[in-house]
This record gives sequence, structure tokens and C-alpha cells, in this order.
Amino acid sequence: MAAGASDVLELLGVSSAIMSAIETGLFAALLEQPGSAAAIARRLALEPRATERVLDVLAACGLARVEGEVYAAAPALVDAAERVPGGRDLLLTMWSHTPELLKRGEPFVRMDVERERHYSAHVSALGELFAYSADQLAAHIEDAPARVLDVGCGSGVWSLAIAERFPGTSVVGLDLPAVLAPFAARAKDKGLSDRIATLPGDMFEVEPPADFDLVIIANVLRLERRERARELVRRMSRAVRPGGSLLIVDALAHGTEEAERARAVYALHLALRTEAGGVHAPSEVRAWMNDAGLVELEAIALPAKVGALGALRGWKR
Ligand SMILES: C[S@@+](CC[C@H](N)C(=O)[O-])C[C@H]1O[C@@H](n2cnc3c(N)ncnc32)[C@H](O)[C@@H]1O
Repeated sequence: MAAGASDVLELLGVSSAIMSAIETGLFAALLEQPGSAAAIARRLALEPRATERVLDVLAACGLARVEGEVYAAAPALVDAAERVPGGRDLLLTMWSHTPELLKRGEPFVRMDVERERHYSAHVSALGELFAYSADQLAAHIEDAPARVLDVGCGSGVWSLAIAERFPGTSVVGLDLPAVLAPFAARAKDKGLSDRIATLPGDMFEVEPPADFDLVIIANVLRLERRERARELVRRMSRAVRPGGSLLIVDALAHGTEEAERARAVYALHLALRTEAGGVHAPSEVRAWMNDAGLVELEAIALPAKVGALGALRGWKR
């Protein structure tokens, strides 16, 4: 991204404009009501000329749009503010917490500590965010799994996309009790209520039967330290029947400048909102799968840029 000195200047300029827009309330003002730079500056008690300069940088980056003299939030910003779990606050405020994180190591929130409370509130929005990628992943599955276990299912976006594709598929959603309501709600919306069952409990304690054609662990390993993540892969591989497969969806995209940047940014995002969450190296996740007896690992690219999302599937022979 930063190939030379001029790139460095531009990168710093863009980040400075973005961070000041968060801190001074410019983003929030744009989202609330469009206006001229002078009017927005008046609303926020800012200096008008500087406000216009920062708004122009935001517009040049695709975060604001300008028509004549009127600035408004760009559709992508409106979309992100509405769709990102936690809404506007988590989208904007959390990033301004990075200096605190640097100085004291204190995250903005601890989603991995109070999991049930946070995830019961957020997984429906996550489901919407991942829906397109989930459909793409489902389109990649050819073997029409009859029984699917979705570990830490949240909204069930990944498994239910597979159930939508194959009329013979039924899904067991494993999650903390309060998080199973959004799973049941998504299944109902999709007319799949009669093809789901729930398994409430802690994924490190419940013992699912060992007869699943497909076990999915999507966006869950990132909440665990290395040893626990590895243990979860090992535990849940036991639920795969011989001939079945385990599918991991996580921050697994890598190898291009864009993917590496997305993983690094996502790792910082996790550091801001969890105590122990982190992005695991794709090579490590592969090794855990191999150690758990899964072979013929296949990497599946996903369209979502969010969280450097990618998938890995391995078979139990
Ligand atoms: C980031 S969300 C992912 C949800 C869904 N798989 C997806 O990709 O949209 C993590 C999920 O793991 C669940 N989870 C976290 N720790 C768990 C545990 N110890 N036992 C069961 N579920 C857990 C959370 O409740 C949440 O639904």
C-alpha cells in the first residue's frame, strides 16, 4: 500500500482526516443530516475551512459524497453504520479507542468474556453481513450433507444457506442458550424451522453425536487463544462421521497484499473488542485440522473482504 514517500504522506493524511472525523463528530453529523461544510462546522462548533478540507478527504476516500456544496455520508458509510454489529457506536467509537489499547491494553469491550449477552444481540446483524458469502460457500458444496452441525452457530447463516440449497439437509445449531433464538428466527424466516434442532450449551462441554456429514465452525476460533482453538477443532472433529467433513470459516484469506492487510486490520479490531481473541495463522489452522485426522484440505475463497474471510474444508477418511 505504501510504496514510497508520497504514499506514506497520503496514508497519514487519510488516517488523520478519518480519525478527526470520528473524534469531532463529523461522521455522526454526516450520517444525521447532510449540509454544506459551513453548516456542518456551525453544528459542531468547528472551524469552517478545516472542516471543508477534512470533508473533501472523506469524499475522495468514498466515505462522504458531495453534490454542489452539500456533503452527506456516502452510501457505503450509511450501509456500514446500519449493518455492522453494534451499529454506529461500535463502527466509529471503537476505533478511537486504539490509543487506550496501546497505552493500557484495555479493550473497548470484552465480547469474548460476556459472550452470551453480546452475541445474542449481534448475531442477527452478523448473519446479514455474511449472507452473500454464505450463499457463495453453499454453492461450492456439492455433496448434499444430510446432517450438519453448526458450532457457535449464531444466526446459523452458513449452515442455513446449505440447508436452503439442499432440501434433504437438516441442521443442529450449537450455541449458548440465549443465542439460539436468532438461529431459530433465521430458520423460520427461510421456511426451514422443521429442519433444525438446537443444542444449547458450551461448545467445550457438550458432546455432540459423532454422526454428522458436515461440521461447521464459523468465526468462532478467533475468540479463543491458540490452545483452546486447537482443542475445539480436535473436539468437533469427533462429531464428523467417517467420510464426512469439517468446514472452518475464519480470517483465513492470506497471501495477497490486500488479504494480509485485511487480516492485520481485523486482528486489531479483535484486540479492541476482546480480551483474548486473535487471528490464527492459516498454516496453524491447517495443522490443527491435520492433527485432528482431517485430510485433503481444501481452501475456499470467499467474496467478503470483511475480516479477511476464507474457508478451509477437510475430510475424515
Ligand atoms: C462471531 S460469532 C459467529 C456466529 C456465526 N457462526 C457466524 O459466523 O455468523 C461467535 C459465536 O460463537 C458462539 N460461542 C462463543 N463461545 C461459545 C461457547 N463457549 N459455546 C457455544 N457457543 C459459543 C457465540 O455465542 C456466537 O454465536
